[in-house]
Amino acid sequence: MAKKAKSPKKVKSPKKAQKPQPKGKGGESVRILISRGRLQRRITEMAREIRKDFPDEPLHLVGVLKGAVFFLTDLGKQMSGEVSFDFIAVASYGLGTHSSGQVRLTRDLDSSIEGKTVIVVEDILDTGMTLQYLLRVFEQRKPKRIRVAVLLDKPERRIAAVHADYVGFTIPNEFVVGFGLDYAERYRNMPDVGVLSLGRKD
Ligand code: IMP
Ligand code: MG
Repeated sequence: MAKKAKSPKKVKSPKKAQKPQPKGKGGESVRILISRGRLQRRITEMAREIRKDFPDEPLHLVGVLKGAVFFLTDLGKQMSGEVSFDFIAVASYGLGTHSSGQVRLTRDLDSSIEGKTVIVVEDILDTGMTLQYLLRVFEQRKPKRIRVAVLLDKPERRIAAVHADYVGFTIPNEFVVGFGLDYAERYRNMPDVGVLSLGRKD
């Protein structure tokens, strides 16, 4: 379906010595993995890459709620030309750091994607189960074409053979929060992406 992802930036695990963020509930702490500045620079590049591939087309960005909200808004702001948005919501993770492996639609799109150039905008590609499910749903609705943009990619955890056309950063197999990503609905509002350590492990 899609061509190879374009040069995502590789990110290594943060060093222990890095200054930890203030402790959260139950001794949880977060170490910054990708700063807000790096996020913004890469998102700007991604917006340009996408627009370069489709210079004259209206682009329909479909964000996967809730994790992709900040990524979609920043990507959308940096994109020239005609752009529209819609949102879909799925439930794939429970309240913890492990996927249930099951995906279910909890909120559908507002409008039809038939004949549109759709860019699915997702926060993170982990096992791939969520995107595999969504791509199946979208393909049945006859868009002109579908591309996938993810901010983060954890390739080590992949189960489903899903490919992202645009990847912001490839990251190690760690549980990350911030910039839309949550742990039990918390940390989404952090402006940077960080690795969450649960207090009991430290
Ligand atoms: P997948 O279906 O396993 O690819 O997981 C995709 C979804 O799981 C993402 O949209 C996130 O909501 C969630 N997820 C996966 N990894 C993380 C993580 O490290 N932190 C927070 N959420 C995650
Ligand atoms: Mg998500």
